[in-house]
Amino acid sequence: MQRCHWRKHKRQLLLIGLLLVLLAVALQFINAPCIVKPSASSADGFAISEALFLHDKLARHPSFSDSITPIYQIENTSWTSVPNLTIDILSIGSLLRPDLLQAQRETMGRYARSFTGVTEADDHSEANCFISRQAAKEIAEHCQFNRNHKPKLSPKDQEPFSELYFWRNMYADWDTFLSKRDNPGGWLCAQKRANDGLQIVLQEMKQTTIPDYLLLVDDDTFVDMPQLTHYLQTIRHDPTEPLIMAGCLIRSITSFTIPFGGFGTVISKGSLKRLLTPISCANVTTFALSEDDFIQNACYRLQQNLYGERQYFREQMSLSDLMHAYVSTHRFADHASWTEESSFCVHSDWIWGYFFNYYNLGNTLDDPKYPIAHNRFTSYRLSEQHSIKGPLSLQHRSAVEGECHYKTSCPPDAHFCHYVTAEQIRQEGQRVFQEPKWVAQVSQQQPIAVFVYPCWDIADGDGLSHFLYDGIHASSQLVLTQDHSAAPVWIVDVRRAGLTSGRYCYRFVNLVKSARDRKRIVIFVYWDDEPVEHFYDCYRATRLLDSTTVFRYKKSMVQGRQWNETMQFVDPGSAMKYGNWKEHSGGPVRHIGGGVRSDIVDGLKNIFNDANIWEVERPVDVSHFWPLSGDNHRSKMWQLRQSLIRVTHQRLSRLLFPFWTSHLQNDKLRDAVSRVIHGNFSQTHEVYVGLSDQGHATDRYLARSAYLHKLAESKIVVIAQKDNLEDQNSLMDALVSGAMVMTDPMLTLPNELQNNVSLVIYHSLDELVTKVQYYLDHEDERIAIAKAGYHVAMNHYRSWQLVERLVSEVADVLFG
Ligand SMILES: *[C@@H]1O[C@H](CO)[C@@H](O)[C@H](O)[C@H]1NC(C)=O
Ligand SMILES: *[C@@H]1O[C@H](CO)[C@@H](O)[C@H](O)[C@H]1NC(C)=O
Ligand SMILES: *[C@@H]1O[C@H](CO)[C@@H](O)[C@H](O)[C@H]1NC(C)=O
Ligand SMILES: *[C@@H]1O[C@H](CO)[C@@H](O)[C@H](O)[C@H]1NC(C)=O
Ligand SMILES: *[C@@H]1O[C@H](CO)[C@@H](O)[C@H](O)[C@H]1NC(C)=O
Ligand SMILES: *[C@@H]1O[C@H](CO)[C@@H](O)[C@H](O)[C@H]1NC(C)=O
Repeated sequence: MQRCHWRKHKRQLLLIGLLLVLLAVALQFINAPCIVKPSASSADGFAISEALFLHDKLARHPSFSDSITPIYQIENTSWTSVPNLTIDILSIGSLLRPDLLQAQRETMGRYARSFTGVTEADDHSEANCFISRQAAKEIAEHCQFNRNHKPKLSPKDQEPFSELYFWRNMYADWDTFLSKRDNPGGWLCAQKRANDGLQIVLQEMKQTTIPDYLLLVDDDTFVDMPQLTHYLQTIRHDPTEPLIMAGCLIRSITSFTIPFGGFGTVISKGSLKRLLTPISCANVTTFALSEDDFIQNACYRLQQNLYGERQYFREQMSLSDLMHAYVSTHRFADHASWTEESSFCVHSDWIWGYFFNYYNLGNTLDDPKYPIAHNRFTSYRLSEQHSIKGPLSLQHRSAVEGECHYKTSCPPDAHFCHYVTAEQIRQEGQRVFQEPKWVAQVSQQQPIAVFVYPCWDIADGDGLSHFLYDGIHASSQLVLTQDHSAAPVWIVDVRRAGLTSGRYCYRFVNLVKSARDRKRIVIFVYWDDEPVEHFYDCYRATRLLDSTTVFRYKKSMVQGRQWNETMQFVDPGSAMKYGNWKEHSGGPVRHIGGGVRSDIVDGLKNIFNDANIWEVERPVDVSHFWPLSGDNHRSKMWQLRQSLIRVTHQRLSRLLFPFWTSHLQNDKLRDAVSRVIHGNFSQTHEVYVGLSDQGHATDRYLARSAYLHKLAESKIVVIAQKDNLEDQNSLMDALVSGAMVMTDPMLTLPNELQNNVSLVIYHSLDELVTKVQYYLDHEDERIAIAKAGYHVAMNHYRSWQLVERLVSEVADVLFG
């Protein structure tokens, strides 16, 4: 019977969902930038829940100001002073086209400490390299394995030479590739030149100093140096940390990544130092892979010999020496005496791909999408493409991302472009010099216009949007605008914008495309508590936006926080470290905790009704807003949720009731705290443990009268966070109620709060009981702590203060 009942409801729900989706479609024509097109798959849970929200929130929020005056002008100052990173440039050129090197020197060279262009004249691994057409054919044929005894090994076998064999099958095929070149011999000689050039600049560095970064490029490449420098600064990379970054990264699914040499490779000081470190394996007894130990790993790789490099190694060689030996030992001139495993049959880019990746020249990437430990190249702003032979299929063409697009053309958006002419390099160089510096003047009198996306999601719909609207509305420095193209600051609510589901990203991309005339700050706020290692944003848009002005904030950044049965308490876990592949594509993920909402403050004010908050009667000695297990109210909620899971699917119910999902497994601490408080104090004191109408899904984010009354009546409010996360919203509520607040430990305790001074932290259930008892017995101390906590919350954590902090922390990229 129960099931039939729910089936009927299911049909009704679907019908309502469809109607609302239609409504949403209609609405997008009314308000284009704000109402974004729902997904084509309207039966999907997310689209329905969006439509439900839409239906609820049609009223316009009063704090939208209809017209705003432009609040910033862009000054026409040219880039006279470049941020003071030291960058050296090495460009691989040719005597046949000296003008390219000259054009780079005149333009990019202006931003570098030194510019080195190498040509045939600098070839030293095989000086005076000359290969006739006939010899080139012989070399190409030698390098191709005879089809009849093609090695069976593949890279994953990790046998000696396996990587080399794998790549050689794709090398310089005579019939399809090399014979078609004007100067096939010259092409082969040039494969050694890149590494020869690297040896030259490394020798110079040994004599002088190592720069912050070395940029390797081909001569037919333009790099927008101010953008690159700015980007390197905004990702806050410390140059002494190893980093290798490709302007365009070629991903081969089966093997290591390769920098597309022409698009440039950036090597940090930390990596350059590794390149020059002598390697000694004589006394190494155990050979094992190492993530961190450069030498140990190098000895392991030498033993593996995947590229046939071991034959060239001598004790105390550096990696750069080894690479030089690899390139120079087998001369093209002697190819007649080459053997299959002692020869030089690799493309210049592969040398960097192999040695830089396998020999840990960069740090670990922690790339969740490609968790391959030996791949250490970061792609510049996620500029990547997949390696495939032959013409690109449509699918693969769309897999070309970011800077990899800029071949033969060099639009202003490009930071790196390849296959360009000397004329293009000079043109772009000129543009870069003249381009106004992106410093905006902010008038002290006028507030900064902020556009919130998605903007139809009005105040009471959701925690973050409520908080944002409240904060912007109450701020004297910020003003909310609906005019996305005029706003210098956008704040994107990651979950409400649907960015946690990649499919919805395109709507945001469209919004970005419609407003690309200006540089702007875009702040992604991921207000959810879930301990996820992915920061969801929309990288397609991030690239369009100029990632130097994109910032990310996440609430609750702890991992591994969990209930420990032995301790009968939570293990605090550790701070979440977002993988550095993300940091390198838009800056680190910053933390944002909870704040004080105006409706809470106003609600409490009403309750106190002009009475002095420190003199009101507080009849409840201790409160904990969580029911005792088995509490009737809670089990009703549980039943309701279970029913919803049955009629909808899990995902929809999670979206509609996100806060319920993890409760059920993650409330051991809260259950224990309620149990202990009730057990130890209810006989002797006035205790409240319960939900106090917190349970209604729809008004979770509204100040609830019964809840506020209970807060206002309490002497001590105990906060117990969920087992697996931090930043409980209720912390700030409790602080502004005038109660003394006790909480379990936080890794990210709000800055100004101090244990024993403005709140009290309990590290175990015993300590909780002892401290509650102590502060109930010591009223003066309790009130002093309550007052201090109240002042911290009211003076530093009001909604507008948090939103202003979001903006001001990052504003200098625009506002100078
Ligand atoms: C800034 O540049 C723009 C266009 O390049 C020009 O119209 C404007 O007059 C310049 N402003 C100043 C203050 O030089
Ligand atoms: C940049 O300039 C500052 C101040 O002049 C100086 O302290 C710093 O060392 C410089 N950094 C580099 C990398 O040159
Ligand atoms: C290796 O060990 C020997 C004997 O203990 C020692 O003399 C030598 O210096 C060591 N070599 C290196 C490179 O550590
Ligand atoms: C629980 O805590 C104890 C004592 O600190 C520790 O030894 C144990 O490893 C922890 N258990 C888990 C599952 O973390
Ligand atoms: C807080 O006070 C307790 C005793 O009241 C003391 O044991 C503890 O060390 C203090 N903690 C801090 C951080 O001051
Ligand atoms: C009182 O608190 C302690 C934890 O410190 C707990 O072990 C004990 O069971 C509690 N007593 C009651 C009656 O709940």
